[in-house]
Amino acid sequence: MAKAAEHQDKEHQDSTDKGLDRDCTTLSRHVLQQFQGFSAQAQDLSALMNRIALAGKLVARRLSRAGLMEGVLGFTGEVNVQGESVKKMDVYANDVFISVFKQSGLVCRLASEEMDQPYYIPENCPIGRYTLLYDPIDGSSNTDTNLSLGSIFAIRQQEGEDRDGQAKDLLAPGTKQIGAGYILYGPSTMLVYTMGKGVHSFTLDPSLGEFILTEENIKIPDHGSVYSLNEGNFWQWEESVREYVRYVHRTEGYTARYSGAMVSDIHRILVQGGVFLYPGTVQKPEGKLRLLYESAPLAYVIEQAGGRATTGEMNILDVVAEKLHQRTPLIIGSKEDVAKVESFIQNGH
Ligand code: AHG
Ligand code: MN
Ligand code: MN
Repeated sequence: MAKAAEHQDKEHQDSTDKGLDRDCTTLSRHVLQQFQGFSAQAQDLSALMNRIALAGKLVARRLSRAGLMEGVLGFTGEVNVQGESVKKMDVYANDVFISVFKQSGLVCRLASEEMDQPYYIPENCPIGRYTLLYDPIDGSSNTDTNLSLGSIFAIRQQEGEDRDGQAKDLLAPGTKQIGAGYILYGPSTMLVYTMGKGVHSFTLDPSLGEFILTEENIKIPDHGSVYSLNEGNFWQWEESVREYVRYVHRTEGYTARYSGAMVSDIHRILVQGGVFLYPGTVQKPEGKLRLLYESAPLAYVIEQAGGRATTGEMNILDVVAEKLHQRTPLIIGSKEDVAKVESFIQNGH
């Protein structure tokens, strides 16, 4: 073969291989690759992620047809353990996660925003040593207007025997999470996860029904222009938070973005940099967001990408919970932007 033709042939081969490889990196394969082998734990976590992905696909499918079906949108009329009105999609998504983990043999307990107490799957408990903590629908207020939503998850290994069924081991700090991530239901459905070896994103290809690798080892910029918080709460904040917001208002280079679903706001920040805040208020210093299935999993993702997450006083991943549905203030995002907010909270400027 002539040299030029040989070269062209090799180039074609390379690009075909790359294309094929890209098309074939499914989520479950990726998890196995992360652990470089077929250890029992690698196989468990790969199977577990596959189930989470299935839950994501079921939720995405229902959301994509919500306006065409009866009984999908709107409220149930119930109030959850958080004192918040429950939407039909909250209940659907909560049940989807339970049903995909029944008979999985992997997960003994599930704990979610929508359930007062952890849900036990007794048939899994003799062998299933993992617990899933999750927020089935994050950003519920966006449900009825066809805007972005998310699901958040964290995987923990059961510690001790949990004889009294109180799941006290789940109160341990976020550093105990062995995996965490979120699913973003946007124009496309994405799944972002970490198992302590970087942050990786996948996009659902509806024609294949598979999450396909989009980006590996995502790194958050050290600084970004976005600040993301609900400024309607200005009147309720501590003076230090108000001072920070006043600083942003008078300084060139900031832009506001707030969608009502932290998964989408934090995803934007993961990719483009910036800071998301949900501070406490004078009346409720602990704020709104829940530590174990909202703040801690997202903190794990953002730290793994090179960013930071803090309450303003301490790293989110070091906070020990006192109860399952504990709330915490959250400041999360690019290193430099989180440090800026901290300097207002700690030093007043
Ligand atoms: P959830 O729908 O799970 O209750 O979470 C909503 C959270 C978060 O996603 C969002 O950033 C924030 O609450 C919005 O709250 P405000 O309406 O108070 O801004
Ligand atoms: Mn939420
Ligand atoms: Mn929710």
